[in-house]
Amino acid sequence: MPGIGYQDSGNEILRVQDLQLSFGGVQALNNLSFKVQKGQITAIIGPNGSGKTCALNSISGFYRPQNGKVFFNGNDITKLQPEKITRLGIGRTFQNIELYPSLNCVDNLMVARHIRMSRTSGVTGFLYFGWAHAEEIMQREKVEEIIDFLKLEAVRKMAVGALPYGIRKRIDLGRCLALEPEIMLLDEPMSGMNLEEKEDMSRFILDIVEEKVPSVVLVEHDMGVVMDIADEIIVLDFGRKIAEGTPTEVRGNQKVIEAYLGSTIKQNTS
Ligand SMILES: Nc1ncnc2c1ncn2[C@@H]1O[C@H](COP(=O)(O)OP(=O)(O)OP(=O)(O)O)[C@@H](O)[C@H]1O
Ligand SMILES: [Mg+2]
Repeated sequence: MPGIGYQDSGNEILRVQDLQLSFGGVQALNNLSFKVQKGQITAIIGPNGSGKTCALNSISGFYRPQNGKVFFNGNDITKLQPEKITRLGIGRTFQNIELYPSLNCVDNLMVARHIRMSRTSGVTGFLYFGWAHAEEIMQREKVEEIIDFLKLEAVRKMAVGALPYGIRKRIDLGRCLALEPEIMLLDEPMSGMNLEEKEDMSRFILDIVEEKVPSVVLVEHDMGVVMDIADEIIVLDFGRKIAEGTPTEVRGNQKVIEAYLGSTIKQNTS
Protein backbone atom coordinates (compact mmCIF):
# COMPACT_ATOMS: atom_id res chain seq x y z
CA MET A 1 0.00 0.00 0.00
CA PRO A 2 1.68 3.27 -1.02
CA GLY A 3 1.93 6.22 1.36
CA ILE A 4 -1.04 8.53 1.03
CA GLY A 5 -1.27 12.21 1.75
CA TYR A 6 2.24 13.15 2.82
CA GLN A 7 5.93 12.72 2.04
CA ASP A 8 7.47 9.98 4.18
CA SER A 9 10.32 11.54 6.13
CA GLY A 10 12.46 8.40 6.35
CA ASN A 11 12.74 7.65 10.02
CA GLU A 12 9.12 8.35 10.84
CA ILE A 13 6.97 5.38 11.91
CA LEU A 14 3.75 7.04 13.02
CA ARG A 15 2.03 10.28 12.15
CA VAL A 16 -1.10 11.70 13.73
CA GLN A 17 -2.59 14.51 11.68
CA ASP A 18 -5.26 17.02 12.78
CA LEU A 19 -7.21 14.57 14.93
CA GLN A 20 -10.55 15.87 16.09
CA LEU A 21 -12.55 13.77 18.54
CA SER A 22 -15.53 14.84 20.57
CA PHE A 23 -18.13 13.16 22.78
CA GLY A 24 -21.24 15.31 22.85
CA GLY A 25 -20.01 18.65 24.13
CA VAL A 26 -16.61 17.33 25.25
CA GLN A 27 -13.77 18.08 22.86
CA ALA A 28 -11.43 15.21 23.74
CA LEU A 29 -8.90 15.88 20.93
CA ASN A 30 -8.56 19.25 19.26
CA ASN A 31 -6.57 19.29 16.00
CA LEU A 32 -3.95 17.01 17.46
CA SER A 33 -0.89 16.37 15.29
CA PHE A 34 2.40 14.73 16.14
CA LYS A 35 5.02 12.36 14.73
CA VAL A 36 6.85 9.41 16.21
CA GLN A 37 10.34 8.49 15.03
CA LYS A 38 11.75 4.98 14.87
CA GLY A 39 14.14 4.11 17.68
CA GLN A 40 12.63 6.60 20.11
CA ILE A 41 10.48 6.71 23.20
CA THR A 42 7.85 9.39 22.67
CA ALA A 43 5.97 10.32 25.83
CA ILE A 44 2.51 11.86 25.90
CA ILE A 45 1.86 13.75 29.11
CA GLY A 46 -0.86 16.01 30.42
CA PRO A 47 -3.33 16.31 33.28
CA ASN A 48 -6.26 13.92 33.86
CA GLY A 49 -8.77 14.17 31.05
CA SER A 50 -6.38 15.96 28.66
CA GLY A 51 -6.86 13.36 25.91
CA LYS A 52 -3.88 11.00 26.28
CA THR A 53 -5.90 7.77 26.24
CA CYS A 54 -8.16 9.16 23.50
CA ALA A 55 -5.03 9.74 21.38
CA LEU A 56 -3.93 6.10 21.85
CA ASN A 57 -7.49 4.86 21.22
CA SER A 58 -7.66 6.85 17.99
CA ILE A 59 -4.32 5.46 16.77
CA SER A 60 -5.27 1.88 17.60
CA GLY A 61 -8.74 2.10 16.04
CA PHE A 62 -10.76 1.83 19.26
CA TYR A 63 -12.14 5.34 18.78
CA ARG A 64 -13.17 6.87 15.47
CA PRO A 65 -12.08 10.51 15.29
CA GLN A 66 -14.54 12.80 13.48
CA ASN A 67 -11.64 14.33 11.56
CA GLY A 68 -7.98 13.79 10.92
CA LYS A 69 -5.76 10.91 9.90
CA VAL A 70 -3.32 8.40 11.34
CA PHE A 71 -0.44 7.11 9.20
CA PHE A 72 1.64 4.06 10.10
CA ASN A 73 4.78 3.54 8.02
CA GLY A 74 3.32 5.97 5.51
CA ASN A 75 -0.01 4.15 5.16
CA ASP A 76 -3.36 5.64 6.13
CA ILE A 77 -4.77 3.41 8.91
CA THR A 78 -7.45 5.83 10.15
CA LYS A 79 -10.44 3.73 9.21
CA LEU A 80 -9.08 0.26 9.94
CA GLN A 81 -10.50 -2.04 12.63
CA PRO A 82 -8.45 -2.45 15.85
CA GLU A 83 -7.62 -6.12 15.06
CA LYS A 84 -6.26 -5.14 11.67
CA ILE A 85 -4.17 -2.34 13.20
CA THR A 86 -2.74 -4.80 15.74
CA ARG A 87 -1.87 -7.20 12.95
CA LEU A 88 -0.14 -4.44 11.00
CA GLY A 89 2.28 -4.07 13.91
CA ILE A 90 0.84 -1.61 16.44
CA GLY A 91 0.70 -3.21 19.89
CA ARG A 92 -0.79 -1.54 22.92
CA THR A 93 -1.43 -1.91 26.61
CA PHE A 94 -4.47 -0.50 28.35
CA GLN A 95 -4.80 1.80 31.34
CA ASN A 96 -6.85 -0.98 32.96
CA ILE A 97 -4.97 -4.25 32.49
CA GLU A 98 -6.50 -6.43 29.77
CA LEU A 99 -5.45 -9.99 30.61
CA TYR A 100 -7.41 -13.22 31.07
CA PRO A 101 -7.44 -13.47 34.88
CA SER A 102 -8.12 -17.21 35.07
CA LEU A 103 -5.36 -18.11 32.60
CA ASN A 104 -1.78 -18.35 33.79
CA CYS A 105 1.03 -16.10 32.61
CA VAL A 106 2.26 -18.49 29.90
CA ASP A 107 -1.22 -18.97 28.45
CA ASN A 108 -1.95 -15.23 28.41
CA LEU A 109 1.19 -14.74 26.34
CA MET A 110 0.28 -17.71 24.12
CA VAL A 111 -3.02 -16.04 23.22
CA ALA A 112 -1.06 -13.00 22.07
CA ARG A 113 1.28 -15.25 20.05
CA HIS A 114 -1.72 -16.68 18.31
CA ILE A 115 -2.87 -13.20 17.31
CA ARG A 116 0.65 -12.53 16.06
CA MET A 117 0.68 -15.79 14.06
CA SER A 118 -2.63 -14.99 12.45
CA ARG A 119 -0.89 -11.93 10.97
CA THR A 120 2.06 -13.82 9.56
CA SER A 121 0.68 -17.23 8.61
CA GLY A 122 -3.00 -16.65 7.99
CA VAL A 123 -4.08 -18.73 11.00
CA THR A 124 -7.42 -17.38 12.18
CA GLY A 125 -9.61 -17.79 15.24
CA PHE A 126 -9.24 -16.65 18.78
CA LEU A 127 -7.57 -19.34 20.91
CA TYR A 128 -4.59 -21.39 19.90
CA PHE A 129 -6.13 -24.85 20.39
CA GLY A 130 -5.73 -27.00 17.33
CA TRP A 131 -2.34 -25.65 16.38
CA ALA A 132 0.07 -28.19 14.98
CA HIS A 133 2.33 -29.60 17.69
CA ALA A 134 5.56 -28.27 16.15
CA GLU A 135 4.03 -24.85 15.74
CA GLU A 136 2.96 -24.78 19.36
CA ILE A 137 6.45 -25.75 20.56
CA MET A 138 7.91 -22.87 18.54
CA GLN A 139 5.41 -20.42 20.01
CA ARG A 140 6.08 -21.67 23.54
CA GLU A 141 9.79 -21.01 23.00
CA LYS A 142 9.00 -17.42 22.01
CA VAL A 143 6.83 -17.04 25.09
CA GLU A 144 9.55 -18.46 27.35
CA GLU A 145 11.98 -15.95 25.80
CA ILE A 146 9.67 -13.11 26.84
CA ILE A 147 9.18 -14.59 30.31
CA ASP A 148 12.94 -14.71 30.67
CA PHE A 149 13.39 -11.17 29.31
CA LEU A 150 10.80 -9.72 31.72
CA LYS A 151 11.97 -11.89 34.63
CA LEU A 152 8.60 -13.58 35.09
CA GLU A 153 9.87 -17.15 35.72
CA ALA A 154 8.54 -17.26 39.28
CA VAL A 155 4.95 -16.60 38.18
CA ARG A 156 4.83 -18.34 34.81
CA LYS A 157 2.29 -20.98 35.86
CA MET A 158 0.20 -18.81 38.19
CA ALA A 159 -3.29 -17.56 37.36
CA VAL A 160 -2.83 -13.93 36.44
CA GLY A 161 -5.87 -12.69 38.40
CA ALA A 162 -4.27 -13.73 41.69
CA LEU A 163 -0.97 -11.92 41.11
CA PRO A 164 0.03 -8.52 42.55
CA TYR A 165 -0.82 -5.48 40.44
CA GLY A 166 2.80 -4.62 39.55
CA ILE A 167 3.41 -8.14 38.21
CA ARG A 168 0.17 -8.09 36.22
CA LYS A 169 1.32 -4.83 34.60
CA ARG A 170 4.57 -6.54 33.63
CA ILE A 171 2.70 -9.54 32.17
CA ASP A 172 0.53 -7.10 30.23
CA LEU A 173 3.73 -5.61 28.80
CA GLY A 174 4.77 -9.17 27.93
CA ARG A 175 1.43 -9.75 26.20
CA CYS A 176 2.12 -6.70 24.05
CA LEU A 177 5.69 -7.88 23.36
CA ALA A 178 4.37 -11.31 22.31
CA LEU A 179 2.62 -9.59 19.42
CA GLU A 180 6.08 -8.60 18.13
CA PRO A 181 4.83 -5.17 17.15
CA GLU A 182 6.84 -2.50 15.36
CA ILE A 183 5.55 0.09 17.78
CA MET A 184 4.12 -0.20 21.29
CA LEU A 185 1.56 2.19 22.76
CA LEU A 186 1.77 1.98 26.55
CA ASP A 187 -1.00 3.62 28.58
CA GLU A 188 0.36 4.32 32.07
CA PRO A 189 2.42 1.14 32.41
CA MET A 190 3.67 2.29 35.82
CA SER A 191 0.49 3.48 37.47
CA GLY A 192 -0.01 2.02 40.94
CA MET A 193 3.60 0.82 41.14
CA ASN A 194 6.10 1.47 43.91
CA LEU A 195 9.45 3.13 43.20
CA GLU A 196 11.35 -0.13 42.74
CA GLU A 197 8.72 -1.52 40.36
CA LYS A 198 8.82 1.74 38.38
CA GLU A 199 12.59 1.52 38.09
CA ASP A 200 12.29 -2.07 36.84
CA MET A 201 9.61 -1.10 34.33
CA SER A 202 11.69 1.86 33.08
CA ARG A 203 14.62 -0.49 32.54
CA PHE A 204 12.44 -2.98 30.68
CA ILE A 205 11.07 -0.26 28.39
CA LEU A 206 14.59 1.01 27.61
CA ASP A 207 15.78 -2.56 26.90
CA ILE A 208 12.73 -3.22 24.72
CA VAL A 209 13.50 -0.21 22.51
CA GLU A 210 17.12 -1.27 22.26
CA GLU A 211 16.55 -4.97 21.60
CA LYS A 212 13.00 -5.79 20.56
CA VAL A 213 10.54 -3.09 19.49
CA PRO A 214 12.06 0.00 17.88
CA SER A 215 9.43 2.58 18.93
CA VAL A 216 7.38 3.23 22.03
CA VAL A 217 4.66 5.78 22.73
CA LEU A 218 4.44 6.15 26.48
CA VAL A 219 1.56 7.79 28.35
CA GLU A 220 2.77 8.34 31.89
CA HIS A 221 2.00 10.60 34.84
CA ASP A 222 5.28 10.14 36.67
CA MET A 223 7.35 13.10 35.48
CA GLY A 224 10.58 11.71 36.92
CA VAL A 225 10.21 8.60 34.77
CA VAL A 226 9.22 10.57 31.67
CA MET A 227 12.12 13.00 31.99
CA ASP A 228 14.50 10.08 32.49
CA ILE A 229 13.55 7.79 29.62
CA ALA A 230 11.69 9.78 26.93
CA ASP A 231 13.45 11.07 23.82
CA GLU A 232 10.53 13.31 22.84
CA ILE A 233 7.61 14.60 24.89
CA ILE A 234 4.22 15.78 23.67
CA VAL A 235 2.22 17.81 26.17
CA LEU A 236 -1.57 17.83 25.99
CA ASP A 237 -4.05 20.07 27.74
CA PHE A 238 -7.79 19.95 27.02
CA GLY A 239 -7.13 17.80 23.93
CA ARG A 240 -4.67 20.30 22.43
CA LYS A 241 -0.92 19.94 22.04
CA ILE A 242 0.51 22.82 24.04
CA ALA A 243 4.20 21.87 23.73
CA GLU A 244 6.58 19.27 22.36
CA GLY A 245 10.30 18.64 22.40
CA THR A 246 13.05 16.90 24.27
CA PRO A 247 12.77 16.54 28.06
CA THR A 248 15.11 19.53 28.44
CA GLU A 249 13.02 21.68 26.10
CA VAL A 250 9.73 20.72 27.72
CA ARG A 251 11.09 21.15 31.22
CA GLY A 252 12.12 24.67 30.32
CA ASN A 253 8.94 25.55 28.40
CA GLN A 254 7.31 28.45 30.22
CA LYS A 255 3.85 27.60 28.91
CA VAL A 256 4.08 24.06 30.28
CA ILE A 257 5.43 25.17 33.62
CA GLU A 258 2.77 27.86 34.01
CA ALA A 259 -0.05 25.62 32.80
CA TYR A 260 0.30 22.73 35.19
CA LEU A 261 3.62 20.98 35.38
CA GLY A 262 5.74 23.50 37.23
CA SER A 263 5.59 22.12 40.71
CA THR A 264 5.98 18.50 39.60
CA ILE A 265 8.98 19.20 37.39
CA LYS A 266 10.65 21.36 40.01
CA GLN A 267 10.11 18.64 42.62
CA ASN A 268 11.74 16.08 40.36
CA THR A 269 14.71 18.18 39.43
CA SER A 270 15.58 19.69 42.79
N1 LIG B 1 -15.96 6.92 25.72
C1 LIG B 1 -16.06 8.18 26.15
N2 LIG B 1 -17.27 8.78 26.23
C2 LIG B 1 -17.37 10.06 26.65
N3 LIG B 1 -16.31 10.84 26.99
C3 LIG B 1 -15.10 10.29 26.92
C4 LIG B 1 -14.90 8.94 26.49
N4 LIG B 1 -13.57 8.67 26.51
C5 LIG B 1 -12.96 9.79 26.93
N5 LIG B 1 -13.88 10.78 27.18
C6 LIG B 1 -13.59 12.14 27.63
O1 LIG B 1 -12.54 12.65 26.83
C7 LIG B 1 -11.65 13.44 27.62
C8 LIG B 1 -10.23 12.89 27.48
O2 LIG B 1 -10.20 11.62 28.11
P1 LIG B 1 -8.92 10.69 28.19
O3 LIG B 1 -9.37 9.41 28.76
O4 LIG B 1 -8.26 10.66 26.87
O5 LIG B 1 -8.01 11.49 29.22
P2 LIG B 1 -6.56 11.10 29.78
O6 LIG B 1 -5.64 12.22 29.42
O7 LIG B 1 -6.21 9.75 29.35
O8 LIG B 1 -6.81 11.15 31.37
P3 LIG B 1 -6.19 10.24 32.54
O9 LIG B 1 -4.86 10.82 32.86
O10 LIG B 1 -7.16 10.44 33.66
O11 LIG B 1 -6.16 8.83 32.07
C9 LIG B 1 -12.18 13.41 29.04
O12 LIG B 1 -12.97 14.57 29.23
C10 LIG B 1 -13.03 12.16 29.07
O13 LIG B 1 -14.07 12.27 30.01
MG1 LIG C 1 -5.93 7.95 30.30
